[in-house]
Amino acid sequence: MTQRSYYAGRDFRRASTIEELRRVAMQRVPRFVFEYVEGGAEDEVSLRRNRDVFERITWLPRTLVGLTIPDLATELFGESLHLPLVIAPTGFNGMLWPQGDLALANAASAAGIPFTLSTVSNYDVVKMGRELPGKIWFQLYPVKDQKTADRLVDRAAEAGCTRLVVTSDTPVLGAREWDRRNYRDPMQLSLASVLDVLAHPRWLKQVMVPRGAPEFANLAEFLPAGSRSALQGVRFMGTQINPSLCWADIERLRQRWSGSLILKGILCADDARRSLDAGADGIVLSNHGGRQLDTTVAGIEALPAVRAAVGDKLTVLVDGGFRRGSDVLKALALGADGVMLGRAALYGLGAGGEAGVSHALGLLRVEMERVLTLLGCRSLDELGPHLVRS
Ligand SMILES: Cc1cc2nc3c(=O)[nH]c(=O)nc-3n(C[C@H](O)[C@H](O)[C@H](O)COP(=O)(O)O)c2cc1C
Repeated sequence: MTQRSYYAGRDFRRASTIEELRRVAMQRVPRFVFEYVEGGAEDEVSLRRNRDVFERITWLPRTLVGLTIPDLATELFGESLHLPLVIAPTGFNGMLWPQGDLALANAASAAGIPFTLSTVSNYDVVKMGRELPGKIWFQLYPVKDQKTADRLVDRAAEAGCTRLVVTSDTPVLGAREWDRRNYRDPMQLSLASVLDVLAHPRWLKQVMVPRGAPEFANLAEFLPAGSRSALQGVRFMGTQINPSLCWADIERLRQRWSGSLILKGILCADDARRSLDAGADGIVLSNHGGRQLDTTVAGIEALPAVRAAVGDKLTVLVDGGFRRGSDVLKALALGADGVMLGRAALYGLGAGGEAGVSHALGLLRVEMERVLTLLGCRSLDELGPHLVRS
């Protein structure tokens, strides 16, 4: 068999798959940025499993159905979406593209789907809420200092966010060794990485020259005035990781937050049931893109048991490794209400900013339309476990 060949150029518009966009992004950004995005924890078994799992879930299509172009619209938390997708929270997006968070949010809004702004984003939540009213979800790292956590939640409300995504899988930071090797100290690049940066003058000019490493905008008010750099932000978050986080904290957040509360990082039916008891409206089945605990199940593998445990009482989203429209449809067939996209959107961002993200979402939309037609479905509602073998 001949080796598969991919588009090897730099024009993101010519990428015909998410994998090709990934390759365009890899060329455009320095290695330390790309490896920050790509890396997983320890031996990256979870990271690989997130992709491998889709090959083990196979379709049982229906033919001769008589179809027109299928409808990809859906609803999440009473919100109408044009696609069954949400852009996942990812930190430090400003390293991939200037104002990377805004580029992602604009592309999501244009595609009719929500964007989730991370606690450790480079764009201020209140500012973004004013620019894109009603379109932004906010992700909370429930930090150690309760006043800080409360303030983050209150600012998300002030921004008009109606959904709060609380990440539950980070009681300690995962060991992302691949990413760490590019630094000699926190935020201090190794000599090899500096040389590699110099070999990317376009990125340097576009991203670093105008303002230096992008700051963590939502953390600015918690840092001493005059030292609000990215390094200070990283140091601050290092002191705020919260191993004592527990269900009582979720119940407390439930009291404070009146919009939809979504727990991200759930991987078993027990925790799904407890999420319901704690007052959550939804969960994201996620292993954090393989970046936290290594050798976990993939989110999609937890789906059937979780759905059986919570029925329709919770909105169930899933993430991890989604790179094809077909992957998304497999999750819906197995009972998910929607899918969060992490790296698939980031590859678009790294390859071409807002237009690159739009390109990524467009590729996934076309793939979903084609696969749904090949499965014999008119709309997402017709997907179900009868169409898959897992
Ligand atoms: C570069 C990067 C940064 C991330 N930052 C965050 C974050 O700030 N908060 C969070 O809850 N999850 C974060 N995640 C995890 C994503 O929200 C999501 O769970 C994961 O990317 C899904 O897997 P995928 O990238 O294979 O789609 C990050 C993931 C990546 C790749």
